[in-house]
Amino acid sequence: MRIIRAKDYEDMSRKAAAIIAAQVITKPNCVLGLATGSSPIGTYANLAAGYEKGDLDFSGVTTVNLDEYKGLPRDNDQSYYYFMNHNFFSKVNVDPARTFLPDGMEADSDKACREYDRIVASVGGVDLQLLGLGHNGHIGFNEPGEVFEADTHCVDLTETTIKANQRFFASIDDVPRQAYTMGIKTIMRAKKILVVVSGKDKAAALKATCTGPITPQVQGSVLQLHNDVIIVADEAALSEM
Ligand code: GLP
Repeated sequence: MRIIRAKDYEDMSRKAAAIIAAQVITKPNCVLGLATGSSPIGTYANLAAGYEKGDLDFSGVTTVNLDEYKGLPRDNDQSYYYFMNHNFFSKVNVDPARTFLPDGMEADSDKACREYDRIVASVGGVDLQLLGLGHNGHIGFNEPGEVFEADTHCVDLTETTIKANQRFFASIDDVPRQAYTMGIKTIMRAKKILVVVSGKDKAAALKATCTGPITPQVQGSVLQLHNDVIIVADEAALSEM
């Protein structure tokens, strides 16, 4: 794992965007694995600014997102589809038909998950996967547990995650209890992985991810086994390392 120290959130976002920009410039028809959450918002803003300046062209890029809440329609402002559209897709020239997320409105979990695995396989795998890190070390919505789930699956969100995501919803009762998420196998198959981590509240999760035992209790720890992981973390997130 290569760890790049950033001063703060802004610096982290600029550095992460530069790494993604290099990927898009060197392989204009690349597949980007994308993440939601507050960690990558600044990265997306920097990429959009690069597009505005004429430095970046996303017309050949395909995107596959990590996860989506189960039961939220795309036009719900808390759905991950809405998030991606608002923060990134609508700001660059990516072809909307080449942007993929799990279908949160498919009530049949098995069908939704198999269909998403089929899509990810059909685009030829991920060149660069962007990840945030949950407070409990989760990646995507792969929550702490007894196993590393391989493929896309439906998860029951943990109390920690529901509480952490409550800030985006009117009340805790509005936070969906389930989500569809890419599994660990798909994430680990990405050629390159870029993790963005910011803030003191992530310091313990980051330390466990990078230096702790490789265990499904800290799903991010599996990244220690990947041979091309870059972590861009700010000083606060690195404060326990
Ligand atoms: C969410 C997402 C993750 C994200 C994580 C951290 O639950 N499913 O993909 O990385 O939480 O979010 P944040 O960046 O807002 O701290």
